[in-house]
This record gives sequence, structure tokens and C-alpha cells, in this order.
Amino acid sequence: MHKKIDIVTAIAALTLEEKAALLSGQGAWETAAVERAGIRSITLTDGPHGLRKVAPDAEQFSFEASLPATCFPTPAALGSSWDAGLLTEVGEALGAESRAAGVDVILGPGVNIKRSPLCGRNFEYLSEDPVLTGRLGAALVRGIQSRGVGASVKHFAANNQETDRMLVSADVDERTLREIYLAGFEHIVKNARPWTVMAAYNRINGVHAAQNRRLLTEVLREEWGFDGLVVSDWGAVADPAAAVAAGLDLEMPGTNGVSAARLVTAVRAGEIEEAVLDQAVARLLTLIDRTAEPSGEADFGRHHDLARKAAAESAVLLKNDDGILPLNAGARIALVGEFARTPRFQGAGSSQINPIRVDNALTALAGDFAELSFAPGFLLSGEQDPALLTEAVAGAAVADVAVLFLGLPEGEESEGFDRRHLDLPAVQLDLLAAVAEANPNVVVVLANGGVVEVASWRHHATAILEGWLTGQASGGAIADLLTGRVNPSGRLAETIPLRLADTPAYLNYPGPTYGERLYVGYRYYDAKDMPVAHPLGHGLSYTTFGYSDLRTEVDGDTVRVRLVLTNTGPVAGKEVVQLYVADLDASLDRPVRELKAFTKIELSPGESAQVAFELQERDLSYYSPDHGRWVLEAGDFEIAVGASSRDLRLTATVTVDAPVLAKPLGPHSPIRDWLAHPTGGPLLLKAMSAGQDASVLTDPAIFRMVESLPLSRLAAMSGGLLDIDLLLETTGR
Ligand code: BGC
Repeated sequence: MHKKIDIVTAIAALTLEEKAALLSGQGAWETAAVERAGIRSITLTDGPHGLRKVAPDAEQFSFEASLPATCFPTPAALGSSWDAGLLTEVGEALGAESRAAGVDVILGPGVNIKRSPLCGRNFEYLSEDPVLTGRLGAALVRGIQSRGVGASVKHFAANNQETDRMLVSADVDERTLREIYLAGFEHIVKNARPWTVMAAYNRINGVHAAQNRRLLTEVLREEWGFDGLVVSDWGAVADPAAAVAAGLDLEMPGTNGVSAARLVTAVRAGEIEEAVLDQAVARLLTLIDRTAEPSGEADFGRHHDLARKAAAESAVLLKNDDGILPLNAGARIALVGEFARTPRFQGAGSSQINPIRVDNALTALAGDFAELSFAPGFLLSGEQDPALLTEAVAGAAVADVAVLFLGLPEGEESEGFDRRHLDLPAVQLDLLAAVAEANPNVVVVLANGGVVEVASWRHHATAILEGWLTGQASGGAIADLLTGRVNPSGRLAETIPLRLADTPAYLNYPGPTYGERLYVGYRYYDAKDMPVAHPLGHGLSYTTFGYSDLRTEVDGDTVRVRLVLTNTGPVAGKEVVQLYVADLDASLDRPVRELKAFTKIELSPGESAQVAFELQERDLSYYSPDHGRWVLEAGDFEIAVGASSRDLRLTATVTVDAPVLAKPLGPHSPIRDWLAHPTGGPLLLKAMSAGQDASVLTDPAIFRMVESLPLSRLAAMSGGLLDIDLLLETTGR
């Protein structure tokens, strides 16, 4: 056990220079120590789907020289499991490996919203939806921290592109920020109490994330009650004094004393109070106090099995015509594609793991079928090799089923840059077309972290299994799914659009303008009633599920929803029951439907289960910048339950009561708002009718034309009839 620090006494004993030195790192991955005061240094390393601890004798920023660790499926895959229990298990394993390696904080999970499928780091993020992101992110954090290791929820906030990530400002309106980009962080902070949050590289509405007082202090700490430490992303701090003043506690990596000197100067110049440094030091000491001695040994064998289970739970069966999957053990199978032998299982950048071992599907499937052949079909370099193509087509022609392993090349998905298109390489698509011509029974297995376009080629495939970037146990997991040893149960955590040009941020991405506002992912396609290749929540199974007996009950602000789910097919399987809410009487634009709850349930053939959800006020509310809080509007809400955002099986309407919340009024508020106000409306009418005709307000035809008129203009035109000050006073302003 580490000795506890008496924080108040420790801070009192530190010099200004020592305090300043503690607020930036020592080297790449450690915090500074003050041995004299008994303050030890702690270690923070990546994250998020495996431990990347650089070997002690290697160059500290090396991406290559990390100690071996289990490479779990990337978050793009884990998100598609829709299984919070599974993410907690993965978190526990990440925590255990970190603890055994003497790492105190693991830098993850990454919970940025997938604003565009082009984001180079989408493979590190969970979903396009904040509720799914928040629930799964919280599960990971709980798992990690249960092992005495801190999580770092990143990248706070609105870090949605890699292009110019240190330069760009995410210019996003307050409602969108709250409903889409902050909601996942908020859920995690409030429910899983992460020890640290990582401030992003980008600016938000012009202000650097790492020196953003509004976000780091007002929202994160004062509103959400965050009691941990805010660490900068590596190199995100532009001005250390401004960062600490805004609520950042720890700048990483170390700057060789440059930042400390700047902090000391800032305090001496009265630019920042020493008490502000004390507060940041206190948070660092609290974090150090939370950490535990290294202990245990990582059980890499068990973690590999968990990685395999997680990969199998996360793969999404997009298409399965004629029940071609699972493959028949008596069949002659031709495996085609280099990825069957050399799997692509993780992305590049700071999350890149040095895996303990890597399984491939070719080896994992050996012995499972009457015959199994393999042809690489293409070179990973993307170059055409006619001989490889000919060989693959010949092999496929004499098989019962050709299973093609396709995916994105390694160099296309990485931290640091965004993708430019959603296409699979031409060499792979040519191979697919040629194989499909030789054999109509084609199964495509995909390996990619970001979404790829499927609409232009899916007619060549009888089945498509989207594996994502599956981690080191990919081969075994894919084999389990193809043979039916495991029944697919992954569901899309993001929409697969028909084409890039359909995507919500197409005209603005990459770039600062969040012009699509809240309409991200399915919220956009649904608002525009657009066809998509596959909607959020989609995923097939080797069995089928029936939904029945939807019951709803409103109890104050709580809506209880119950239904019965039945496995109506031939084999055991898991269904993800999804609940979407629509505000039918909203006074402002709201998405057509929003995911608010989900659960994953396993049932044997013929078995039924009761599924219950409870929605709270927040689940029905929108964020009102006018009121600075979430607002529930009375009226009818549709509760829809189903197997995807576009496969809604049962719906019910509930009526919810809520107090009318008037908009705050000012002299320049439009007369529309004044009239809607419970006291302002009658007062205005009275004042107008006292002198002369109030028909400008009461005649609907005239009112439509003038409703946006600011009260100040009406007053000016009324020739003294309206006393604005009096109106404001009587409405309590
Ligand atoms: C990434 C972070 C990562 C950090 C440390 C940064 O470039 O954005 O996600 O944790 O490096 O490697």
C-alpha cells in the first residue's frame, strides 16, 4: 500500500516552484515527483483498447517499442456489441494489465462522437450516438477503475476530426454541443466517476479545449460534479498559465521546466493566483492517492479468450441471403484475400498495441470444413497482381462457397489525418467481382475501423459480415461466427450511408462549421427521410426475434416501458432491444427519433423474456440554451421499440405533464415570445388594447407577418403606448 498523502499539509510545505513543477509531466509518460515532500510520480500511458507502455529502454515517444499487451477489439468494434457488461469485462482486463505493468492511468476510453465517417480516428470511438457512447464508455471506465487504475476519458471535447487537429476550432452551437458532443462525457462523469478527463487538441468556439474555463470548470466540475484531474492531450497546451487558470491540472508530456517557469512568472506577475495552482496540485495529489501499488500478473491467456469473445460479440452480420451463413461443415470452402492470413486488426497511432499474439482465420478454420483452400487474391500494398487474381478465381470456382476477406489498407486509418473517401481499394473490388462471376455463393468478411461504402458492390455478396478492427483474436472470432459456433449479435453503432455525399457533414468536413447541428448520424438521415445502406442498430442473427405486449406507464416524470421478446427461430441467440423516443409536440425542431435505452438479451429457441426500461425526465428533454438547462415539454411522446432505428416493431404514445417554461424575456425578444409568456402575454395584450387596436397581435393573418418583431420596435411604432420598462418589471425581469 502506498502511504496516503495529507494533501493540505503537503501543499503547505511546497514552494511555488515545486507546485509549478508538479503541474507538468516528467518526460513522456510520468508526472513529476517531489521526493522531499513524499510526492511520488505516477505513470499514464495509452489506451484505449490495450495497454501501450513504451519499453523502459526505448525512445519514449516510439510507437513501435511497446511492451506486449492484449490487443482487444477497437472501440469501433466494441461499440457494435451494444453490451455494457462485455465492456466492463474488457475494462477489467485493461485495468488488470495496467496494474500489473505499474501503469496508474490508462488513456482511454475515447468517446468522441463520429460526426463524419471520414474521421481518421473513428476506429477509436464508440458510436455516432451519445447515449450508446455514454453507456458503453461508462462501462469501460467502471471496469478499468475496479482494478485500482484510473481511466482518462478523452478527448474533451468536440475532437471530431484529425485534419489540423491542433489548429481547428469546432464552431458548434450550445444545444448541439450539449445534446450530441457533451452528453456522452456527461453520462460517464456522473455515473462512472472517472479519475481523469483528457482535454482535447482542438479549440471549441475559438477557445482551446485545454484552456477552456467554460468546459473544464463550469460544465465539467461545477455542473457535472467531476472530482478528478484534467490532463491535457499530449502537447495540447498553448499557454500553461491560461490552461491552469481555466481548470487544467496537468500538462503532458513534460516541457523540461519551460511550463513551470511560465507558471511561476504568471503567479509573481499577479496574472494567476497561487491558490489556483494549489487547487490543481491538490487534484494531482488526490489522483496519486487513488492509485495503488503494482500488483498481479496479467493473465494473457484469459484475456486472449476475452478478446475473442468480445470480437465475436461485436461483428455485425449486415446481410445473409438464403441463410448462407453459418457455413455448412460438409462444404468446400475457398478462403480468398490476404486478410484471411494476415488480419488487419487495429489502427495506427497512439492506440497501436504490440499484441501478445495474433490469430488468423485461415488457421482458426482449419479442420472445420470438408475442404478448405486459400488464395491471397491481392497484395496488401494495393498493387494489382493478375496471377493472384487468376489463382483466387480458380479456387473459388471449384468451391461451394467463397469467403472473401476484404478491408481497408493499414495506411488508410490512423490518428493524425482523416480519410478522403469510403471506398475499399479497387484491387479488392475487382477481385470480388471476378470471384462472384465464378461462384455466386460469396461471403464477404470486412476488416475496417471506419465505415466503408457497401452499396456499390453488395449485390456480389450473398452475405456480409462486418468484423471492424477486431483485435488480436480476430481469426478465432471470425471462425466462430462463420461456423455458427457463435451466433452474430453485433449491431451497427453508426449508420452505413449509401455514399459519402449523403453524409450529414459532407459540405463542412473537415472544417470548423458544425452546420448540420444536432443532425448527426441517423438523426440526419431520419430528418431527411433518406435511404441508407444500413441504419443504426442494424445487425442480423442466425435466429429471429418477435416483439410483443408493449406496455407503457407514466409515473410523474418517469415512463416505464415493458415488452416481451421471444426467440422465434431455430437457435439460441442475442437480440439488442432498442428504445427510441420522439417528441410529437415539440415547440422547436427535434430529431425524428433518438435512442434512449437498449439492452442485449440472450434467449434459447422458443424462449421469451420480459424486457423493462425506465425513462427519466432527461430522456425526454432537449437542451435549452435560453434557460441554460435541459427542458421537458409537456405533451405526447412516441416510444418505439425495435431491432434497429429503422426496424421499429412496437410503438406507443405516452402523454407527459410538465410545467410550462416561459422563455426569458428582454426588450428585444420577439413579440411571439412575449405573447407566449404566461404573464408577459396578457400584459402586452392589455397594454396594446388600452390605447387602440390590438389586432396586430390577435389577428392571425397580421400576426404571422409581425411575430418576429422585437418588442422594442413595436414599442417605438406604438408611439409611446407601450412602456417597455414597465412590462419588463411586471414580468419579473
Ligand atoms: C492522442 C491521445 C493519446 C496521447 C498520448 C495523443 O496524440 O491524441 O489520444 O492518449 O497522444 O499518446
